[in-house]
Amino acid sequence: MTELVHSKAEKYADDFTTADGDLLLEVADHTIKNHSMPHMLSGHVQGRLLSMLSCLVKPERILEIGTFTGYSALCLAEGLQDKGVLHTIDIRDEGAAVFFDRSAFKNKIVLHIGDANKIIPELTESWDIVFIDADKTGYLNYYELILPQLKINGLIIVDNVLFHGDVLEDNITGKNAKAIHAFNEHIKNDKRVEQVLLTVRDGLLLLRKI
Ligand SMILES: C[S@@+](CC[C@H](N)C(=O)[O-])C[C@H]1O[C@@H](n2cnc3c(N)ncnc32)[C@H](O)[C@@H]1O
Repeated sequence: MTELVHSKAEKYADDFTTADGDLLLEVADHTIKNHSMPHMLSGHVQGRLLSMLSCLVKPERILEIGTFTGYSALCLAEGLQDKGVLHTIDIRDEGAAVFFDRSAFKNKIVLHIGDANKIIPELTESWDIVFIDADKTGYLNYYELILPQLKINGLIIVDNVLFHGDVLEDNITGKNAKAIHAFNEHIKNDKRVEQVLLTVRDGLLLLRKI
């Protein structure tokens, strides 16, 4: 694993970013204390970026692939329009519903438990924002499944596109790093979208459908 951003810069960014609300702090705390892989949670700075993007887009429909304990869904939901809805999918029930029910977005978040490959084709919405943050080998398939349903100028946000720095190696090993690199190459050559790769946390790719 490579240190992608200097730890002092990470700390500085954390200090100078708007603080999380009480519920998000609780979700993060609960995840750290009770989950074996708490690093999967988006975290403070990335969470505020998700919220910021959502508040700027003012989406009617958001799709999240990879709910985990609900942190990023709660961040993204902050920008929803009054009648907006966020659908979030996870193959495992990690207890996010408890936090959704206690949030201001109780009636705006729909949690689907099951394989995203099966659930995405069942959703007939037109998406304003999609956040891809599930199994890395599935990214390409998720992207191709959702792109036809993404509105023109719609935004796709993809997490872990630097995959702990593993994609920076000359000889990329490991199935997840290989899958992420192949995904990044695919996007680079895809004329249907414009993209910017941000070195935020583990790498965040922003795509706009042309
Ligand atoms: C990195 S975590 C998501 C973190 C969350 N977005 C956040 O920032 O708090 C990835 C999640 O994807 C889920 N996942 C893995 N494979 C999946 C699949 N085929 N369909 C749906 N969810 C899947 C895992 O169960 C895990 O909870």
